[in-house]
Amino acid sequence: MNTLSLPKHSTMLSKNFVYGVATAAFQIEGGVNDRLPCIWDTFCGEPNNIVDNSNGDVACDHYNKWLEDIELISSLGVDAYRLSISWPRVMTASGKLNQTGVNFYINILDELKKRNIKAFVTLYHWDLPQYIEDIGGWLNRQTAYKFQEYTDLISKAFGDRVYSYATLNEPFCSAYLGYEVGIHAPGKKGRENGKKAAHHLLLAHGLAMEVLNKNSPRSLNGIVLNFTPAYAVDDKVENIEAAKFADDYFNQWYVKPLFDGQYPEILQQLPESCHPDIHSDDMKIISHPIDFLGINFYTRMVYRATPDDFFEEIPPEGKLTDIGWEIYPQAFTQLLTSLNNLYELPPIYITENGAAIADKIIDNEVNDLDRIDYYQKHLFAANQAIVQGVDVHGYFAWSLMDNFEWAEGYLKRFGIVYVDYQTQVRTIKASGVAYKNLISDRK
Ligand code: FCB
Repeated sequence: MNTLSLPKHSTMLSKNFVYGVATAAFQIEGGVNDRLPCIWDTFCGEPNNIVDNSNGDVACDHYNKWLEDIELISSLGVDAYRLSISWPRVMTASGKLNQTGVNFYINILDELKKRNIKAFVTLYHWDLPQYIEDIGGWLNRQTAYKFQEYTDLISKAFGDRVYSYATLNEPFCSAYLGYEVGIHAPGKKGRENGKKAAHHLLLAHGLAMEVLNKNSPRSLNGIVLNFTPAYAVDDKVENIEAAKFADDYFNQWYVKPLFDGQYPEILQQLPESCHPDIHSDDMKIISHPIDFLGINFYTRMVYRATPDDFFEEIPPEGKLTDIGWEIYPQAFTQLLTSLNNLYELPPIYITENGAAIADKIIDNEVNDLDRIDYYQKHLFAANQAIVQGVDVHGYFAWSLMDNFEWAEGYLKRFGIVYVDYQTQVRTIKASGVAYKNLISDRK
């Protein structure tokens, strides 16, 4: 199939439902000489961190091609564009705004407004200024306050140009992948780090929410979390318990504090050395009300019990995407309905969903039927959740275009637009056309 469809009476077919495409600064911008270094520059510069030894120096050259890229976004007929702001581009090391960097985004935001495209801005999509990492990064509580200052200045500078602010993208990835297992920047390892970094990230979120609600009360202000639902390999009690622990460790850890003002109970089972340093008002700050919750979903994970640890991950089987992630759309519906049962949720936006496919460009066409199939199944799964009562207001495809896929470099393509990195030519894939048609066919 090369089309996307939804059940006839789906609310996802209404014009009010927001469709968008998403990107992140480090993954597309390049323009490295016009900003300060970030942790990903440093990480890419160290051997064996990035599969193809690449970096973000040029990426999709969006820093120079931004206007053309907005024309491309506009040609897809989407309602919204989710982008992130590069903190090291807009702030100096002495804590002032860098006006050149600010203007870069103001031009983008103005152009989006002109074209009636809602700007969904993420303030932190993993590119921490290196000078902040040099004083401990997210392991240093002060970083949360630095993030609040950056949020304060940038939200004032942007004025009323932004439709929605997300404080952080996927704090799980920053904390766990970056500071606990070290496969993302800054590449720190140690079980004792993960929950400490996570606490400072969540604190940063709460502190930023206070500022956003003051400076930008009319925008939708919230956070974007990723979820990889945890399944037990079978019905054995120990395996079910292992999966539950993994779910608390990876997923609930980031969402429960937002709505319940508490970490999951497994905190008590973690060694003292792993406990975050929680100050008296922290949980109150972290649970500041949010206007929306952004949810990123790609895959699920299967677990079993092991004598050596709290749980063990089982390598995925079944149908996988090019990045090795299992295609399991029913987990998407289950995730949304279970979150809806567990918490008093604000409106939900699916802020990322998509698939890496080994695309081939032939005669200027990319016939990415497997990606269309992935989108089709996940749009249906989201619709199922809506039918079951989940208040989903929007959906963003990850990604607008192929880009720097972190530790995988440029080898994994997630775009609905193909990027030739030699020429920087963009070609809309069959999935891009299908997405555009789905959006334009709404009543
Ligand atoms: C998410 C990230 C995004 C992209 C996708 C594939 O975890 O937020 O930047 O890399 O995965």
